[in-house]
Amino acid sequence: MERSGLAGRGGARFPTGRKLRAVAENGPRTVVVANGTEGEPASAKDKLLMAACPHLVLDGALLAAEAVGAGEVVVCVDAQARAVLAILDQALAERASAGLDRLPVSVAVSPSGYVAGEESALIHWLNRGPAIPTAVPPRPFQRGVRGRPTLVQNVETLAHLALIARFGDEWFRALGTVAEPGSTLLTVSGAVRYPGVVEATVGTSIGDVVATAGGPTAEVGAFLVGGYFGAWLPAAPAWTAPLSQAGLTRLGGFLGTGVVVALPADACGLVETARVVRYLAGESAGQCGPCVHGLASIAGATAELAGAGRHRRAEEDLARWTAQVRGRGACHHPDGVANLVDSALRVFSGEIEVHARTGRCPATGRPPVLPVPR
Ligand SMILES: Cc1cc2nc3c(=O)[nH]c(=O)nc-3n(C[C@H](O)[C@H](O)[C@H](O)COP(=O)(O)O)c2cc1C
Ligand code: SF4
Repeated sequence: MERSGLAGRGGARFPTGRKLRAVAENGPRTVVVANGTEGEPASAKDKLLMAACPHLVLDGALLAAEAVGAGEVVVCVDAQARAVLAILDQALAERASAGLDRLPVSVAVSPSGYVAGEESALIHWLNRGPAIPTAVPPRPFQRGVRGRPTLVQNVETLAHLALIARFGDEWFRALGTVAEPGSTLLTVSGAVRYPGVVEATVGTSIGDVVATAGGPTAEVGAFLVGGYFGAWLPAAPAWTAPLSQAGLTRLGGFLGTGVVVALPADACGLVETARVVRYLAGESAGQCGPCVHGLASIAGATAELAGAGRHRRAEEDLARWTAQVRGRGACHHPDGVANLVDSALRVFSGEIEVHARTGRCPATGRPPVLPVPR
């Protein structure tokens, strides 16, 4: 896995081989947690993968378990993903009747919520606590489920792991870039003809991914890339930008969870950001001051910018507050919100000016683009 260059597909893109080694070195009797919670509202790739290829994910989890000397595998799935749960149950029954697995594998039905899928929150919950992040250290690879060193890996990462185990690291490296090999699942939505999940070589341009999704259905004003912890990118440079972490960093973006939303030019990026930030502020686990109070203030000022009238103060406040909340939570929830808001201030400066000058939002009455759970 280290030679393959596989990096996690759950958001942070951390090198998988390095994580396997860290858990294995803390063993024996470790635990593997397959993270299929997918709390990101604009992402569908993990649920689709588990529904379409349950055995690939389970193979990956069991191979990872062998690699780190685990005594058990737990697959965590959001309670609302009922169809996926039924498919996994059936796949596990098929494996049991074929006598395939040497280790016990269980499916844990996890609570819904944006932070519930954060790894320490998941472990906290598997240890019979609430699904909220805990302070680190200890990190999961040191002390996780029932105090055992625990490997938490996104389900897409585990599917790649299974394929690398079957076809080899050179096969995996035949796609993608030298620094970021392989393919990646992307959830494409917004102004595209066929919204859905696309598998693309890392480094494919956003324009090619949109073409694979049937092409644009309207003029695109901006792209949201990486999910709600990701960043807005202006449409013109984004069309040719490679979907790799290195390619997106140059534009101030992140590959993150592989979400790509094409925002139609007649929608308002400020209004969309304000809705998402209000949702994310409400998803704070409520235990770190800068997250609870900072995100509430950031949500209020973003809503002010999305409205009409002068708001030079709101812009200045936002720039200051996003800098202040970074790195100040037990988990990266505040940092993710700060990424999104900072990118909105950069990309939608024209909209901020129009709102202030005309006293109205040109997109008033337009249906929302980004999904926000109630
Ligand atoms: C607030 C928050 C929410 C997260 N939600 C998820 C999630 O729904 N699914 C997931 O796989 N990882 C999620 N993560 C990342 C996990 O903490 C962890 O890094 C990941 O599951 C590790 O897998 P990977 O290395 O294969 O990406 C979240 C992180 C944060 C900070
Ligand atoms: S930073 Fe926010 S979401 Fe993360 S643990 Fe603290 S209060 Fe909870």
